[in-house]
Formats: sequence, structure tokens, C-alpha cells
Amino acid sequence: MDVLFVASECAPFVKTGGLADVIGAVPKVLEQHGVDVRVLLPAYPALKSVLSDGKVIDEYPDLFGGPARIVSVHAEGLNMLLLDAPHLFDRPGSIYLNADGVDWPDNHFRYGALSFVASRIGLDGLNGWKPDVINAHDWQAGLIPAYLKQAQMADASITVPRCVMTIHNIAFQGLFDWSVCSELGLSNELFHAEAIEYYGKLGFLKAGIALSDKITTVSPTYARELLTPEFGMGLDGLLRARQDDLSGILNGIDLDVWNPQTDPNLVVPYSTRSLKRRQKNRAAIEQRFGLTSNPTAPLFCVVSRLTSQKGLDLLLETLPVLVGRGARLALLGSGDKDLEAGFTKAARDFPGSVGVIIGYDEKLSHLLQGGSDAILVPSRFEPCGLTQLYGVRYGTLPVVAKTGGLADTVVDADSVNLKSKRATGIVFSPINAEQLANAIHRACDLFADQPVWKRMVLTAMKYPVGWDRSASLYHDLYKDLADSK
Ligand code: ADP
Ligand code: GLC
Repeated sequence: MDVLFVASECAPFVKTGGLADVIGAVPKVLEQHGVDVRVLLPAYPALKSVLSDGKVIDEYPDLFGGPARIVSVHAEGLNMLLLDAPHLFDRPGSIYLNADGVDWPDNHFRYGALSFVASRIGLDGLNGWKPDVINAHDWQAGLIPAYLKQAQMADASITVPRCVMTIHNIAFQGLFDWSVCSELGLSNELFHAEAIEYYGKLGFLKAGIALSDKITTVSPTYARELLTPEFGMGLDGLLRARQDDLSGILNGIDLDVWNPQTDPNLVVPYSTRSLKRRQKNRAAIEQRFGLTSNPTAPLFCVVSRLTSQKGLDLLLETLPVLVGRGARLALLGSGDKDLEAGFTKAARDFPGSVGVIIGYDEKLSHLLQGGSDAILVPSRFEPCGLTQLYGVRYGTLPVVAKTGGLADTVVDADSVNLKSKRATGIVFSPINAEQLANAIHRACDLFADQPVWKRMVLTAMKYPVGWDRSASLYHDLYKDLADSK
């Protein structure tokens, strides 16, 4: 079985969020299931050193305004196909935004090119390798089935690979003025509501959902939520129409990269048998974030994009409660300027209790998981969420809003689950500041009862969070599709 993954991010090379973690992890597990996965990625500057080790296996003299090559390379356990198109991807700074913090004005060309090239690999193969299935991830890969459909409309006798569209976050849809369709080589015949048109615009994700054979998202609960106007963000009607082809496959985590026993980013590694060693990691966090130490109340952490999705404005409102309990907060994040300013001010208002580092720091994110007592994830919506899973694996108990993948991965410390020793964290709803405050109170109360807390930590650290089960589900899906060709 041959599968082409197409995505705009991949850990450890280029990452702005959980999409990268997933793309860097699943192919390796699928390989163990006998699936030959190749990952098509834009060759951003972060991939330059890898690129130079690769082999050019295809060339495009003019790909939307400049020459491009496909470079095949094996690195970090992944078989990658890098789309080296300097006019589209060789730029400094953020992969999505220019220096003014707005989307690169040619993002339709950049990700249109990614989708177009993926469709050509699907149709023509590459060096004798041809995918049975293409798995398109998020809007950046959404036009793949449109290009495939167009090729089939031009010649009904050709065979096209099957296509799976995976939605990691429906908030990002890739909407552009319809006039770019012709520049992207998309036929007018596709510009209608059953294909690539979204209310008069070109919709990349819309196209992917409308035209793929199957649609997946990253948790069962989010799959159900997406069918509602509250969560579907304008695409719920289409998703309801395609409900039979939609499924939720829960994300896992890379157990090699996120392993408290071997993590080189921790001051001291530890296991379920040496939990005391976490204290050294906690001390390092306290020092780094300028926090006073207080063994009688939990050290909470946050590792997050600072956006309204993540509900961290609710946490800002709730900080007096957290601090009032003698607890502390170490926050690492970046994003909305208002939230950055709000947390920076909070660190000044609550010195020693609230420590804030604005920025993106992969190593520090590991240390926070390896030394904090609890991780706060009060998201308004969360397709899956990975930081709560890292928390579970590291014994940093998650305190989460009851939504999407958060609801599917954390077992609430209610009386029944505490009694049966299944609890791994705290789940609150409805999602508002009052309930978040309650959840923080509950965490502080549980922390005060150290034997109970420790039991939860041990239960969490043994909870299965790897990719095995979900990789089987992806494999089954690909197999069914390939068999139906
Ligand atoms: P999302 O993809 O919506 O941002 P996830 O929880 O799925 O949310 O994944 C976020 C990923 O990005 C995690 O690996 C998390 O550790 C990482 N991350 C988020 N913010 C930061 C940051 N400021 N520094 C380092 N890592 C971060
Ligand atoms: C998105 C979602 C997040 C999910 C990640 C990986 O960024 O916001 O919930 O975990 O994709 O699938």
C-alpha cells in the first residue's frame, strides 16, 4: 500500500502547531503496518540542510511563476518529497505570514502549487512509485482532489488515486478571491457549490471536503461537533451532507520524542518509579520563569498559541483565583498581541506567582511538561489537542475544557473515576471563566491530597497515548479505499 501525505508542516523540521507533530509521527507508525508513506512538503528555508542531502527526481520549468524541483530525501525516519520552489517557499520568517504579520499575498499560489504537484504525483507517479491513496492535510492541501477531478474530466479513462481529506482545524479554510482560479489553472466547470466554490470565493478546504473520497478529523468528538453550526464554521452543512464519509480518528503522540525517561530537554529524566526526580525539573522551571517555590500548591503551565481558540482570555480572568490559592503559573506562548500584552501585564501584577515567556521554544515546552504539576487547556474548541496528551505522558495532569479531543483524552477526576482509579485529569464545562475557576479549585484540592494526586499521576503516565490504535484505523481506511479502486 502506497500513500502520499501532503502537508505544510512537519516536525521536527518546520512547525507552528500540532499539525507538524502529527505529520512527523504517523508515517513512521504506518510504515510498521506495511504502508509505504511519502510526505510531500514545501522546501522552506528550515529544510535547506536536509534538501542538500537529497536527490532531484523531478522538475517543473515553470510552476506558477518560477522553476521547481522535487527532491527525495530520507531524514528523521521519514521518506520526504520536498517541493523546492524558491519563488514560493524560500523566504525568511513565518511560513504563513510576512513581516507585517499578514498572510503572504501569494498563499494561493504557494499551496495551490503544493496541491497541484501532489495531484501530478498521484496521476503520473514518481520514479516508479505511485500512491494508491493521497492523504491531504488541512486547507493547504485541499485543492488536490480538485486537480484530480479536473484531470479525470479531461480524460475519463485515466485512473486517479483515492483521496482522504484530514481536517486538523476547520477555523483555517484557505479562502481566496474567485479570480485566482484561472491563475491556478482551475476550470470554471469546478466553480460551483458542489465543488470548489464557497459563497463566491475559492475555498481550498471546501474543495477538499466536497471532492475527497473520505474525510477524517482528529477526534471522534470533533467529528460530531463539526456537524453543528456552532463548530462547523460555515462548512457544517456540507459536512452533514457528507456525514457517511466523515470519521474521527484520534491523534496520538510520538512516544520516542515525548518520553520522560529519555527526554534530553529535561534537567533530570524520570519514570513512574522515580517521580521525585521531577522536583529538579520543577525547580528549573521556577527559576526560568521567576517563580517562588511553594510545595503545597500546584505549579500550572500553559504551552500554547495565544488565540481565541485556546480560551486563554478566560485564564487571564481567572488568575486571581489561581494566585489566591497559592498556586503558580508558567506560561509559554505567542500569538495575539492583546493576549501577549495581557499575560505580560499579569506577570508584572503577580510577581513570583505568574511567570510568562512570550515566544516559541520547543525545548522549554518539554521542560514545562517534565516539571509542572498540571497543564491548563481551556480551549473553546479543540479538534484534538496534543499538549494535554504530552501532559498525560509526563504526569503533568491536564485541566481541560470538555470539547473535541480534550473530552476524548482526559478522564475527569469525578468521584466515580477517582474511586475506580481511572482519573487522569480535570474536565470542565460549560466553557467559561467561572467553570475554569472551579476546575482550578478542584486541582488545588486534589493536589493537597498527595496520595490521591500521585495515584492520578501514575494512572496518567500509563494511559495509552501512542499512535498504534489510530494508525490501524488510518491503515484500514486506506485499505478499504484502495480495494474499492
Ligand atoms: P494547535 O495545533 O492548535 O496549536 P496542539 O495542542 O495540537 O494545538 O499542538 C500544539 C503544538 O505546538 C504542541 O506540540 C505544543 O507543545 C507546541 N507549542 C505551542 N505553542 C508553543 C510554544 N510557544 N513553544 C513551543 N511549543 C509550542
Ligand atoms: C490543529 C488543532 C489541534 C490538533 C492539531 C493536530 O492545529 O487545533 O487541536 O491537535 O491540529 O491535529
